Amino acid sequence: MSRYLSCRFWGLEPYVPGEQPYNRTYLKLNTNESPYPPAPGVLSSISRAEIQRLNLYPDPDTRVVSELIAAHFNLDPHNVLLGNGSDELLSFCFQAFCDAEHAACFPDISYGFYPVFARIFCVPVQIIPLNADFQIHAVDYCPAGGTIFIANPNAPTGLTLSLHEIEIILKANPDHVVVVDEAYVDFGAESASKLILSFNNLVVIQTMSKSRNLAGARIGFALADQELITDLRTMKYSFNPYNLNRLSLAAAAAALQDKDYFQSCIQKIMNARVFITVELEKRGFQVLPSLANFIFAKPGIPGETYYLGLKEKGILVRHFQQNRIRDYVRITVGTIDQMQMLLDATDQLLKEAG
Ligand SMILES: Cc1ncc(COP(=O)(O)O)c(C=O)c1O
Repeated sequence: MSRYLSCRFWGLEPYVPGEQPYNRTYLKLNTNESPYPPAPGVLSSISRAEIQRLNLYPDPDTRVVSELIAAHFNLDPHNVLLGNGSDELLSFCFQAFCDAEHAACFPDISYGFYPVFARIFCVPVQIIPLNADFQIHAVDYCPAGGTIFIANPNAPTGLTLSLHEIEIILKANPDHVVVVDEAYVDFGAESASKLILSFNNLVVIQTMSKSRNLAGARIGFALADQELITDLRTMKYSFNPYNLNRLSLAAAAAALQDKDYFQSCIQKIMNARVFITVELEKRGFQVLPSLANFIFAKPGIPGETYYLGLKEKGILVRHFQQNRIRDYVRITVGTIDQMQMLLDATDQLLKEAG
């Protein structure tokens, strides 16, 4: 820390992304990326002509992609705002909808960025513990008394709330915004996007990083009532009007148009999720019933030992030091071949552990 850093940020602990080591090649099952490349049309969308236009700013209103997203969800483009990854949109929500009187309310076990955003924007937090089965209990949010942030499916558990439970939370909190972070919703959960026109306190945030195979392009989008979108647009235009670059916008448009490829990638991941769940359970693991592109599993050996053992064998998974979940690891669901590699390494580790 330099002596120039504002005292507001002394002690700020930044978000820690999954490791990206350079010293050797790993099978990366630690950041919930897709194992599949972007849709074939994405490649041709990054054309020579598009590259030649990089001397010009991109469209700050992201009209083409906003219209495609609106059509996909049967909404109006005024209900859509794009962000540089969904992280940016989440940060806009913390800035727009939280303050000293509107604490950020979220579970004790959830996406690690929520407490970081609360800290950097000086927002008080109200932590609402998951129940003993790691489930979000809707009643605990009725009402919550602040701006609610719920990842659905939740991370790192992969567990979901039903649309009905989300509706109960929305109805119980008419004076507060409810942000539903749906980074993993396409892998089997039900989206709250259906409720946008019925609730003017709902923001749904999705990403193209996971189910659309575009983590490197940084594209997220928010869906909400037009007035909430206007608030979020104010944040965006006060920070970085050109938050999506030309090449990412071209990639997003191409990916959104290829619905068959989208469906086939999701289906393969969901099949691999069943495979790895069943196989790990055969080996004595407890695996939470995930509807995400990752599973949260408790091995028969300590979580950290399993994580370090896999790392030694060239496979990265995610282990968290938080007390309640230190016995678990989060494993990204990849291809069946990748899952077989994980199982082979697991069998060796279990054998070594006796
Ligand atoms: C629950 C959740 N929300 C949001 C994000 C951010 O996704 P991105 O910024 O890539 O859109 C992630 C990333 O892993 C996540 O796990």
